[in-house]
Amino acid sequence: MESGLASRTALGVALRRAVHQLADKPPHILDDPIAVPILGEKYRAALADAVARKDEPGSKVLRTWVVMRSRYAEDKLAEAVARGVRQYVLLGAGLDTFAHRNPHPNLRVFEVDYPATQEWKRSLLAQSNLPPEPHITYVPVDFEQQDLAEELARDGFDFSAPAVFAWLGVIMYLPLPAFRKTISTIATLPNGSAVIMDYALPASHVPLAERLGRAVLEERVKRIGEPFQLFLTPQQIREELAAFTTIEDLDAAPLNERYFANRRDKLRLHGHSARIVCAWR
Ligand SMILES: C[S@@+](CC[C@H](N)C(=O)[O-])C[C@H]1O[C@@H](n2cnc3c(N)ncnc32)[C@H](O)[C@@H]1O
Repeated sequence: MESGLASRTALGVALRRAVHQLADKPPHILDDPIAVPILGEKYRAALADAVARKDEPGSKVLRTWVVMRSRYAEDKLAEAVARGVRQYVLLGAGLDTFAHRNPHPNLRVFEVDYPATQEWKRSLLAQSNLPPEPHITYVPVDFEQQDLAEELARDGFDFSAPAVFAWLGVIMYLPLPAFRKTISTIATLPNGSAVIMDYALPASHVPLAERLGRAVLEERVKRIGEPFQLFLTPQQIREELAAFTTIEDLDAAPLNERYFANRRDKLRLHGHSARIVCAWR
C-alpha cells in the first residue's frame, strides 16, 4: 500500500461487482444491491466506462473471479452461522458490502482494513446515505505495522468464540511475514472457526498461455502502488495452514461446476493463476 492512500485495487474490484449487477444477466453469482450505490456519484463515470468494457477478456476474467470469491465466502459463512458462529471478520474489506446486506440476525461483522482505505469507504457510505449499522465494527489495521489480535480485542472481538474470516483479494499484496502473523492470530481461535482467502500461484505454476495476462495484471497493480508480493503453490498453502484441520482448496474447474453451470450467457471462470481456499479449525 502507498502510505496514507486508500487502496485503488479496492475500487477496481468494487467496480467489477457493480458491473456484474448492471451488465450480467440474472441469476447473479453475487446478488449485491449495494454494489452500485456504494460507488455513488463520485465513480459514476468510472462505472459507465467499466460497463462499456465488460466484454473485454481481462474485465470478464477479473469480474467472474471477484463475484465468485465473495459468493463462496458468504456461502461458507452461512454454513458456519448454521453451526452457531456469530462473528464475521472481513480482512482487507475494501468496498465489500456484505455488512449492509447481512441476512444473519445476531452476526457481528468486523471490517478490518488499511486505515486510509477504511476512511475512504466510510466517506463513500456516508455520501450514499448508507448509515453505520450497530452490528458493524470498523477496525483500522495495517497488517504490516500493527497487531491484528490487539486491535480486534480492543474493539470487542471475542477470541473465546469461533469466527469466520474472509481475506479476499488481499494476501497477494502482503509480504510473507505479515501473512503469517495474521494466520497465526486466526489459528488461536476455537474449533468451528474458518478462514477463506484467494491466492495467486507463482508464474512457474501458471500455464504458459496465461502468463502474459498475469504479467499485464501484475504491471497494472505495480503501477498504482500495490504490487503483488506473495505467490504460493497449493503445497505451500497446505504448509502455511498446518494449524487448520480441514482444507478445501479449489481452482476454476470445481468452482465453475458449483457456481456457473448451465448459464445461458456462458459466464464462467477462466484461467489457472488463482485459487480459493477455505480452512477450518
Ligand atoms: C483488491 S482490494 C480487495 C478488497 C476486498 N476484499 C474486496 O474483495 O473487494 C485489497 C484490499 O487489501 C487491503 N490491504 C492491502 N494491504 C494491506 C495492509 N498492509 N493492511 C491492511 N489492509 C491492506 C486494501 O486496503 C484493500 O482493501
